[in-house]
Amino acid sequence: MARTPLMAGNWKLNLNHVEATGLVQKLAWTLKDFRYDQTKSEAAVIVPFTDLRSVQTIIEGDKLPLFWGAQDVSVHASGAFTGEIAADMLAKLNCSYVVVGHSERREYHGETDALIGQKAKVVFDAGMTPIICCGEVLEIRKAGTHVEYVLGQIKECLAPLTAEQVAAAVIAYEPVWAIGTGEVATPQDAQEVCGAIRGYVAEAFGEATAEAVRIQYGGSVKANNVVEIMGQPDVDGALVGGASLNADEFAKIVMFYAAGA
Ligand code: 13P
Repeated sequence: MARTPLMAGNWKLNLNHVEATGLVQKLAWTLKDFRYDQTKSEAAVIVPFTDLRSVQTIIEGDKLPLFWGAQDVSVHASGAFTGEIAADMLAKLNCSYVVVGHSERREYHGETDALIGQKAKVVFDAGMTPIICCGEVLEIRKAGTHVEYVLGQIKECLAPLTAEQVAAAVIAYEPVWAIGTGEVATPQDAQEVCGAIRGYVAEAFGEATAEAVRIQYGGSVKANNVVEIMGQPDVDGALVGGASLNADEFAKIVMFYAAGA
């Protein structure tokens, strides 16, 4: 399998830049203790904007085996957009990843699939990789229409991208009902939707693109459920919220491949 798993910790609105430095150091020491092998899984921290410069400095300075990224981006390059952060500003901080369309942005900031597609495009144009989020709320899951709903989101979010960009993108399937609730989707639930997303990518952008795109699952991922989730053929990583704030727990998630070894 050519796809390297991506285990990304989305810190959300947690940790100032001093605390961020502490957690990154602790995470790096823990990974070293556990003999982390970067070729088996990629680890990234997705941090608040104000933490980025400190996180960059420590990871680059100490040559730590971690990538970093931001939780959102503006579609605008510059101008009178108070409070916004441009993709070029994030690229200048050597961010590798930018999360776009997290369900919390969709819910609290009214972000639409069309806007999220534009954000994914500006992230690529600035030389970084978007982590494009999708996922259904509980009512849709209960109605049994979650697969078509998520494919509808993905169709619109990927529309502005070329096949080459889709191949390089990361898609995160995060069922909203499983976020921060402790209610984890079963590995089969994760596979059902991740597999359907890959099927859609194959149809719309070709087989080679579908083989290359990385698809993450997110929603109450912990050290004690990550192995089973990662065992699914179409799950190429995890987008981890709460559990990424604990160095030991996140290190175990990053090193899912070594469980039982
Ligand atoms: P939790 O892992 O806390 O459920 O959060 C998932 C998430 O939203 C990651 O982006």
